[in-house]
This record gives sequence, C-alpha cells and structure tokens, in this order.
Amino acid sequence: MIDKIKSLLNEVEAFTTQTTDELEAFRIAYLGKKGKITALFSDFKNVANEEKKLVGQEINKLKNLAQDKVEFLKSQLVTQRTSSVGNDLTLPGEPVFKGSRHPISLVKNEISEIFKRIGFTISEGPEIEDDWHVFSALNFPEEHPARDMQDTFFIETNPDVLLRTHTSSVQVRVMDHQKPPIRTLSPGRVFRNEAISARAHCIFHQIEGLYIDKNVSFADLKQTLLYFAKEYFGEQTEIRLRPSYFPFTEPSAEVDVSCSLCGGEGCNVCKYTGWLEILGCGMVDPNVLEASGIDSSVFTGFAFGMGIERIAMLKYGIKDLRLFFENDQRFLEQF
Ligand code: DAH
Repeated sequence: MIDKIKSLLNEVEAFTTQTTDELEAFRIAYLGKKGKITALFSDFKNVANEEKKLVGQEINKLKNLAQDKVEFLKSQLVTQRTSSVGNDLTLPGEPVFKGSRHPISLVKNEISEIFKRIGFTISEGPEIEDDWHVFSALNFPEEHPARDMQDTFFIETNPDVLLRTHTSSVQVRVMDHQKPPIRTLSPGRVFRNEAISARAHCIFHQIEGLYIDKNVSFADLKQTLLYFAKEYFGEQTEIRLRPSYFPFTEPSAEVDVSCSLCGGEGCNVCKYTGWLEILGCGMVDPNVLEASGIDSSVFTGFAFGMGIERIAMLKYGIKDLRLFFENDQRFLEQF
C-alpha cells in the first residue's frame, strides 16, 4: 500500500499541463469518484490495524498534494489566458467613466460667459480677508448694525482677519489696482456663520458685478440685468426692481425675475407670486468710490451680487442646498 502511495505521489508531483482539458482529465483520474486516490480510501479498510495510522497520514498527504496541484495549475492557466487576451487588439476597450462638472461650476461658467459677451472681465480676491475690504471700504460704518446683516467668522486672535461674507470685497480689490473704466465679474466662495439647513449653509458662492465709468446710470444697471435675465432664464423673462438697502449702494434694489417654471402664473417655487428674487444691486455709493481713490464727481457705477446656489436651485429645481456640498455621485451625475 505504502509503495502504491509513493508511486502516485511521484506521478502527481511530475504532472504538468498547458490545457484545461488535460487538467480536468488529471483531476478525474486521481480525485474523481473512481479516481486512483479515491480508490485508496476504499482499500484502506484492508490495511492492518497497526499500519492504519501511518497509511492514513500518507493517503491524506497525497490527496492534499493532488488538490493543491489542481488549484495551482488552474490559476496558472487563468493568468495565462488573461494575459494573452491583453494582446488581442480587436477586443472592445474597458469602459471609461467620464466625470461631469459640478452644478455650481456650470452655473458660474454660464453666468460668466453671459457677462463676458458684454465686455466684463473676471476677477478674483482672497477668501481670507480683512475688515477694510469686507466692511469699512464698502461703507459699513464701525459699530453699524448693518455689519450684523452678515454673521461673520472672525479669527479669534485677530479680529481684523476674517472669512469674507460676500464677494463685494473683490470690488474694493479691483478698484485698488485698476482705474475706470472697470467692468468686472467676481465669482467666489463666501462664508457666514449660519446654521446649515435646506436653505442656508455656512459656505456658499456668489457672483459680484461692478461697472464704473463716466455717465453710468441706473438705466444702464437695469438694462444690463434685463439682458442677463433674458440670456440666462429665457427671452420671455421679465425683471422687477424693489427698493432695498445696502451700505455700499445708493439707491439700492433687489431684483426679481418672472418665474421661469410657471411663466408668472404662480407655483410653489415662486410661492404663488409669479416672481423669484435673484440678486441685490444699486449705484455704487460715492463713499465706496472715494475709499478706493476714485473721483466720485467724475465717475459713477453700478454693482450687483447674486448667490450661485440660489440661481442653480431655481434653474434645476433643486429643493435642498446641502446637496451641493455632499458630493453624492448620484446627484452630481445628473449634470
Ligand atoms: N453683498 C450683498 C450680499 O452679500 C449682495 C449685493 C447687494 C452686492 C447689492 C452688490 C449690491 O454689489 O450692489 O448680500
């Protein structure tokens, strides 16, 4: 019996193949129901009692070796097959999943393009700002309650360092370095200490517009915004200006566009008013021009600011602002 096992061991050890058919034939011949190794187990009952322990161990060793051999050769044949498949240039390629732009970037780019067509440049400023550029130069008097309109994140150790609460700060930076005529659009991220909800977030995006030249009038502001509204929301769009207050503009207004979803008939998005508020604007306050060294007796200008998330929500019918920040692929893939 032991001799038989030894010779089978040698056979198993010596076996090798390049084909799966031969491998399967080997498996059946040795490990199958009527295989040579399986037969040893039936013969085992005839082994003398005192030899049973040794013979049993040897049979098991043989069986394990044969099983390991089959697994090893199988895996080798699989790797050989896939590597030869790699050389077949006629096979279709692996699919490449394309990313898509974030809806905030899409809206930002689209709005920028509309204003670029009428001569606006794009400008940027820092997100970490100082009091001067965010408040003082924009005519927010010291201790004025208007500063409470925006819940500012300050740096604890230095109250002059803060996260900008609006992109109006970029106006100041542009006016510091450029002489009129100025026509610029400043998109960017802003920060406010707000509780996060479906309608508010502590981080969001704005686009600021600024136009300064000789003889810029409120009529220019209105026409520019009407042009934008029609380009962005459709030719049939109308705008409406409501008087408002901002420290940096005088007079100031808030602008509504006719609801593009219901055409002004009234729906739950426009809360049955037919109008959607999209931005704040006004004529640049002479104090703001003077603070940046621009002669307000020669130059006038207008400014406006809008929230990108808000415009994106209106455009795509998105009900929850938090979706823009979660980076859930199921949401992002839709744009
Ligand atoms: N900075 C304002 C805000 O964050 C938006 C704004 C309103 C910008 C009127 C302007 C403007 O330039 O003229 O709420």
